Amino acid sequence: MMDTAFTIHNSQFALPQRVRILDIQTDNYRTKTFVLDAKLDAYPGQFVMAWLPRFDEKPFSLVNADPVTLMITAVGPFSRLMHAKQPGDLIWLRGPFGMGYGVEGAGKRLALVGGGYGVAPLHWLARTQLGVAASVTAVIGARTGEDILYAERFANLSGVETVVTTEDGSRGIHGRVTDALAPLLATGKIDAICACGPHGMLAALEKLGQQFGVETQLSWEAYMRCGIGICGACEFEGKVLCMDGPVLKKVKSEQ
Ligand SMILES: Cc1cc2nc3c(=O)[nH]c(=O)nc-3n(C[C@H](O)[C@H](O)[C@H](O)COP(=O)(O)OP(=O)(O)OC[C@H]3O[C@@H](n4cnc5c(N)ncnc54)[C@H](O)[C@@H]3O)c2cc1C
Ligand code: FES
Repeated sequence: MMDTAFTIHNSQFALPQRVRILDIQTDNYRTKTFVLDAKLDAYPGQFVMAWLPRFDEKPFSLVNADPVTLMITAVGPFSRLMHAKQPGDLIWLRGPFGMGYGVEGAGKRLALVGGGYGVAPLHWLARTQLGVAASVTAVIGARTGEDILYAERFANLSGVETVVTTEDGSRGIHGRVTDALAPLLATGKIDAICACGPHGMLAALEKLGQQFGVETQLSWEAYMRCGIGICGACEFEGKVLCMDGPVLKKVKSEQ
């Protein structure tokens, strides 16, 4: 008989907890979404450490906290081992960790920008902003149409305008997320950019934010070990991303 769900309370010192995989959905040729038999007290942009005993432990953005949901793209040893898992198998989790997106106050016009598996925390953020933000535009980019993730999930959120970009032009706008976002920023109809994706994409978005005087909240990736600010593995621009980030916010006056 399956164990019943349990709650890991919001603690930065939680030891790994055993969690059963309830469901696995295939998103594209190298990405799967894992629904787990657990719930967390967390908010969009925070992450968990997933541990496979005697193998490795890696950070993953929360796609959802109740039930805990992770999206994993198979690129190396850990993510491939996760892809070999079946519903009913066990993994171990600790968290949630870090500072996520802080979109305080109603009425902002938000651009949520995701590159590759960077869309993982943004769909949840979009859902929390429905009826709160003045507008939500999701810009989802990838190299090819096959790499695009969660476009349908965003399109199904009524109230979210979804724009897809691909570098090879096989789906949506031909180009990068910045090519789609720059004209939107030029209209003056965006107040804040919330993004997650590769470093190059985030650096380009930071520049656009500066250029147009728009707040940026960018989720940066780093090699993470302890997840609680001790080891220094995730140091980035003088900050430890596991605690000060992964989402770093820059408001107009800091640009
Ligand atoms: C805060 C945070 C949140 C994260 N959230 C997610 C998430 O939601 N989903 C997710 O899949 N991963 C996420 N990651 C990345 C994840 O932690 C692992 O780094 C990733 O799963 C690869 O681990 P691995 O051991 O399988 O491969 P590794 O041995 O670490 O990597 C194998 C090779 O693939 C390269 N590589 C790594 N990522 C990619 C990529 N996306 N595309 C192409 N090449 C790549 C590496 O540079 C390396 O050369 C996140 C990382 C951080 C820090
Ligand atoms: S992972 Fe150890 S300090 Fe951030």
